[in-house]
Amino acid sequence: MAIPLALAVFTTIITIISADADHQTPVTFIFGDSLTDVGNNNHLKYSLARSDFPFYGIDYIDQKPTGRFTNGRTIGDFVSEKLGIPSPPPYLSLNPTDDIILKGVNYASGGAGILNDTGLYFIQRMSFDDQIDYFENTTKVIKAKIGEEAANNLLNEAIYFIGMGTNDYINNFLQSFLPDAQQYTPDEFLAVLNLKLAEQLTRVYLLGARKMIYHGLGPLGCIPSQRAKSSTHQCLHQVNEWVIQFNSKVQKLINLLNMKLKNAQLTFVDTYQDVLDLVDSPSNYGFKVSNASCCNVDTAVGGLCLSNASVCKNRKEYVFWDAFHPSDAANAVLAERFFSKMFANHKGLITNHKG
Ligand SMILES: *[C@@H]1O[C@H](CO)[C@@H](O)[C@H](O)[C@H]1NC(C)=O
Ligand SMILES: *[C@@H]1O[C@H](CO)[C@@H](O)[C@H](O)[C@H]1NC(C)=O
Ligand SMILES: *[C@@H]1O[C@H](CO)[C@@H](O)[C@H](O)[C@H]1NC(C)=O
Ligand SMILES: *[C@@H]1O[C@H](CO)[C@@H](O)[C@H](O)[C@H]1NC(C)=O
Repeated sequence: MAIPLALAVFTTIITIISADADHQTPVTFIFGDSLTDVGNNNHLKYSLARSDFPFYGIDYIDQKPTGRFTNGRTIGDFVSEKLGIPSPPPYLSLNPTDDIILKGVNYASGGAGILNDTGLYFIQRMSFDDQIDYFENTTKVIKAKIGEEAANNLLNEAIYFIGMGTNDYINNFLQSFLPDAQQYTPDEFLAVLNLKLAEQLTRVYLLGARKMIYHGLGPLGCIPSQRAKSSTHQCLHQVNEWVIQFNSKVQKLINLLNMKLKNAQLTFVDTYQDVLDLVDSPSNYGFKVSNASCCNVDTAVGGLCLSNASVCKNRKEYVFWDAFHPSDAANAVLAERFFSKMFANHKGLITNHKG
């Protein structure tokens, strides 16, 4: 019975959107890491956080790698599909003055984090600060194109998807040889992240954003690269505890910013339990394996599905594609959950109200 109910909810949401479609097609700006990168890192010549090789994209259009860190679509691709818009193009693939920026841009970069030094060993990636710098550039170009007032209206009405923090743990704090791991206790590190994030979200607001959707972190202790550290291949409980604390802190920050910043409509979407449920009970969703990656690279250096990997036979049976990233099939399930929570938490998201 769960599926028909989900479909019913989904149909209602679609009706709300299409009723409004005459007024406005949503413009979306996306900030994030490898979970939402759609090809920015392909343009960073020296970046080690790249996925522009087979078998990435094996289930995407034309079976070609695009720079997405999965076999098919990202959660962002599925959400765009549900909003009835094409997935916004990667910023670095564009001429920054092209009209296409008026329809939305994706700034997400594999390896990126809230902190500037997160993902350092990938050599090149666009940190959240870098992504905001590029977005600032975009706002200037939009103002030059359509004028200050129309630009402000576009920026206020646009939806901003932000998903950051995973790499601050996986590719920073959880790497014991890095300075942040040695310098901070978990509580101190969380406070550093929170302070920086407050500054960053405020900056995005000051550039015109009002409707910001922050996607909380999943149970990182259960991704294959972390499980591989346990002798019994269990989820790392301590890592999941830190994630829960992070999510709770960011939720509070967002409540605070909503009070402090005039007309701000920030929303925190927490899909931690949804991911955990998928990992704990894969068969409820039609999956067979959630404790190992389809590419069988859980203990490999880098954990990516390199061209010499042995890919599983049925990619739809696996929750994880490589040691870090969900499969296309898992992203479809998670996008469904994300999408309905996003609307449940934020009723006025698409309606074209002013003021
Ligand atoms: C961020 O990192 C870059 C190098 O990647 C460095 O040039 C810059 O000074 C750093 N910024 C801050 C605020 O630490
Ligand atoms: C910023 O915008 C200008 C146009 O105003 C463009 O020429 C320039 O290349 C952009 N810079 C970056 C780093 O994207
Ligand atoms: C995954 O779980 C199954 C049982 O559901 C078990 O047989 C298998 O050994 C586990 N794989 C790993 C890598 O832990
Ligand atoms: C694939 O290639 C990488 C580097 O080229 C190597 O480190 C890895 O061991 C290889 N994996 C397999 C399964 O042969």
